[in-house]
Amino acid sequence: MSGRFLTFEGPEGAGKTTQIARLAETLPGALLTTREPGGTKGGEAVRSALLNPDAAWTPLAEALLMNAARDAHVQEVILPALRAGTSVLCDRYADSTDAYQGGGGGLDQDIVDALRRWVCPVEPDLVLVFDIDVKTGLERAAARGAADRFEAKGLSYHEKVRARFLRIAQRDNAVLIDASGSPEAVQNRILSAVSDRLPDLLAAS
Ligand code: TYD
Repeated sequence: MSGRFLTFEGPEGAGKTTQIARLAETLPGALLTTREPGGTKGGEAVRSALLNPDAAWTPLAEALLMNAARDAHVQEVILPALRAGTSVLCDRYADSTDAYQGGGGGLDQDIVDALRRWVCPVEPDLVLVFDIDVKTGLERAAARGAADRFEAKGLSYHEKVRARFLRIAQRDNAVLIDASGSPEAVQNRILSAVSDRLPDLLAAS
């Protein structure tokens, strides 16, 4: 038996974290909530290095580090859970590398795709791509505290990230979620997307 794999993607301040917690409370059945970069001890250490505003990483170095953390996460956490029949709700995955390092950082698509082929033996059953106006998202993120290294990149970087996410949302396994409005409104959009695409997940006992 295999669990379902759902990923949550989108630009800064889209409210993913709140919505993942809400969905985890709503869904029946065995569930695991996790995040990238992170999700393992080593991955969390890599996350600190990546988000540190005093560090300087090129888009290639970022992609390599993201994927180093991802490899541990996939092998140690995601695959074992899915094989045990546990569904996985993952806050960011390979599409974030595409959007941030590829879209925002301008990293060659061949490199992004090659890393994905090497590191990701499993693709999500459903990608929920949150969409929010860049300025609104950055303001929401700023209200949470000091900017991390990605939040501190300029508006034009984040516009490119958003544009790449909008393209990703057109893929067959993806759905675009309007992340504006109240948390309840966004949650209803998510529930309707999940019941549309993965009805068995809501019905599982
Ligand atoms: P996250 O904690 O989801 O940030 P937020 O909750 O503020 O949206 O992710 C941390 C940052 O890492 C975020 O700015 C996006 C970036 N990131 C990448 O650039 N590439 C990746 O592959 C991943 C997984 C994240």
